[in-house]
Amino acid sequence: MTTRALLSRQYIKAPVVWAMLQQLAALGLAVLLAYLFSLSIGLTIITAALLAGMIAWHSDLPRWWLPLQLAFWPALAYLHYLALPPLVYLGGLLILLAVYGSVVFAGVPLFLSSDRATAAVAGLLPAHRDFRFLDVGAGAGGLLAQLDRQFRFGLFEGVERAPLPFVIGWIRSKLRGAQFRIRFENLWQTDLSRYDVVYAYLSPAPMLRLWDKVQREMRPGSLFISNTFVVPGEAPDQSIELHDLSRSTLYVWRI
Ligand SMILES: C[S@@+](CC[C@H](N)C(=O)[O-])C[C@H]1O[C@@H](n2cnc3c(N)ncnc32)[C@H](O)[C@@H]1O
Repeated sequence: MTTRALLSRQYIKAPVVWAMLQQLAALGLAVLLAYLFSLSIGLTIITAALLAGMIAWHSDLPRWWLPLQLAFWPALAYLHYLALPPLVYLGGLLILLAVYGSVVFAGVPLFLSSDRATAAVAGLLPAHRDFRFLDVGAGAGGLLAQLDRQFRFGLFEGVERAPLPFVIGWIRSKLRGAQFRIRFENLWQTDLSRYDVVYAYLSPAPMLRLWDKVQREMRPGSLFISNTFVVPGEAPDQSIELHDLSRSTLYVWRI
């Protein structure tokens, strides 16, 4: 069996848990070496960092984890040296959970639709008649706010379940002139049959389940738009290259 096969995460799905286990293994080995060869604390930390880097290199963690794995123990030692009050860490953790908690639970991080994506979505919406639009996973409501300003006849709604983006989006929706609405709601509980257009910018993880929901709930003639992420095995009716920074594509299905 190869080292890579040994270090593949067959039973551990979340990369962050896998990365943490590797860090603990590296620390354990470094402490053992420190005990055997009477290494100083500084050398032990450098050894742990190098071991974590080596393990990550030989494991199936994506390559961009490598600098994170190398920097982890030295960064921790530096923060310890700074002796910040514990509340700083608790505050940091709570903010990260409030923004990115759904990465752990749903595999969907927060990143925002580009202006080009928003413009391309706007190009798909009717200019002269009423319609209802839903952003599933609306983030801080940026896309909704922009479209809301452009379309007199559209009713724009979004659902979001990460607390901090939701609060920001909700405050935006209450500002003067804003007509869009954003609800603190899990998209799996949202009834899609009430909407003419459903927009999703999520991740590869939920796409098959979302497609199943779209097919069960969306009305004939309505539009389902996915930014960047395809539905495996389901060719879209239209693809729009965005030429934005992340070189994304809008995939459009007419139900
Ligand atoms: C990539 S962001 C897109 C934000 C926004 N739609 C935009 O295009 O700028 C995806 C958002 O979906 C949210 N999300 C993930 N799973 C969700 C769920 N089950 N219910 C509601 N929101 C969810 C995440 O918290 C994140 O804010």
